Amino acid sequence: MEMTCIGTQQQSAATARRTRDNLLQQMEEHLRAFLSAEHELWAAVNERAVGAVDALSELVAAGGKRIRPAFCIAGYLAAGGEAHDGAVVAAAAALEMLHASALIHDDIIDASSHRRGLPTVHTRHSALHRHHRWQGESRRFGEGVALLVGDLALVYSEQLMAPVPAAAGAVWHRLRSELMIGQYMDMSAAAEFNVDPQLSRWIALAKSGHYTIHRPLALGAGAAGRPDLAPAFERYGEAVGEAFQLRDDLLDAFGDSAATGKPAGLDFSQHKMTLLLGWAMQRDPRIHHMITTPGHTPEEVRRRLLDTGVPDDVEKHIAALVDQGSTAIAGAPIAPVWREELTTMAERVAYRTS
Ligand code: IPE
Ligand code: IPE
Ligand code: MG
Ligand code: MG
Ligand code: MG
Repeated sequence: MEMTCIGTQQQSAATARRTRDNLLQQMEEHLRAFLSAEHELWAAVNERAVGAVDALSELVAAGGKRIRPAFCIAGYLAAGGEAHDGAVVAAAAALEMLHASALIHDDIIDASSHRRGLPTVHTRHSALHRHHRWQGESRRFGEGVALLVGDLALVYSEQLMAPVPAAAGAVWHRLRSELMIGQYMDMSAAAEFNVDPQLSRWIALAKSGHYTIHRPLALGAGAAGRPDLAPAFERYGEAVGEAFQLRDDLLDAFGDSAATGKPAGLDFSQHKMTLLLGWAMQRDPRIHHMITTPGHTPEEVRRRLLDTGVPDDVEKHIAALVDQGSTAIAGAPIAPVWREELTTMAERVAYRTS
């Protein structure tokens, strides 16, 4: 009896995952077809015009973990959505396109050289300008082009979102303004560089956790006509969203850039007021000097951080957040198979290595 029950559960878990993967595949194809149509459209206008579309397409084609589409689709299916729905595929594609926009702009802001294993859009265009000895400043050219490519992605994300029912509007608008405000606060906190752990946690959620996990889930549930799931998805999404960004911060400090596809140690050189650095400075004020004064290698900072014991505390905080997320979802009025799947997804984003 018990064996049969476990067998059935495994089967429905496999079916749920297959349905999600199928929708993700449709999202992938939708993005590819959209960008290819834009390429054709602009190629017919002027052969040079396609450069902006192609720069965006390269970033999208370079992969990435597709976390936002995955949570949007999971939220939708957990809420009882149908397996064949164009609206959820469109919403998932719009989220990934918005993410591409955020990444391109974030890499200008953070002076990052690589993304998804490739040179960033601004770095590549600065190099192109230098190579051809074009007029003007190479850095301004590269950053200007990346601003526009990021804006183009933002416009495209709006276009992709068009077929999604208007009821999704409130979540979609909030998700986007919050992301920009979060990035603004991230920049301000880096410039001021005052230790404020509460503010660091708020920023992690605003610039990242909300648009990555909480609101994609809410969008999915909304598309399935289940706004009643919003409170459970908020509790889960905020906890797991913060865990996602705290892992990103740990990967920046201690991760392998060959695995993440982006440079390591940027949060040190860009003096980002992450929770990791804030807690570490509370424990060892000398770290403030190390970060703000040139001449300290990332290796020295890493060693000092480890000496404070704070990385372990961040790990414990992540574990507590994953627990909180699992508890929130355990009580949600969704099928058990999705409770389990969302628990697995929480662990995956919190304990990823890339
Ligand atoms: C990176 O997000 C930017 C942050 C919000 C921290 P991801 O880690 O999801 O990046 P990709 O999409 O997999 O490249
Ligand atoms: C920025 O956070 C998140 C967005 C792209 C909005 P980070 O600056 O930490 O992201 P990474 O580490 O560059 O991916
Ligand atoms: Mg940033
Ligand atoms: Mg960055
Ligand atoms: Mg980061």
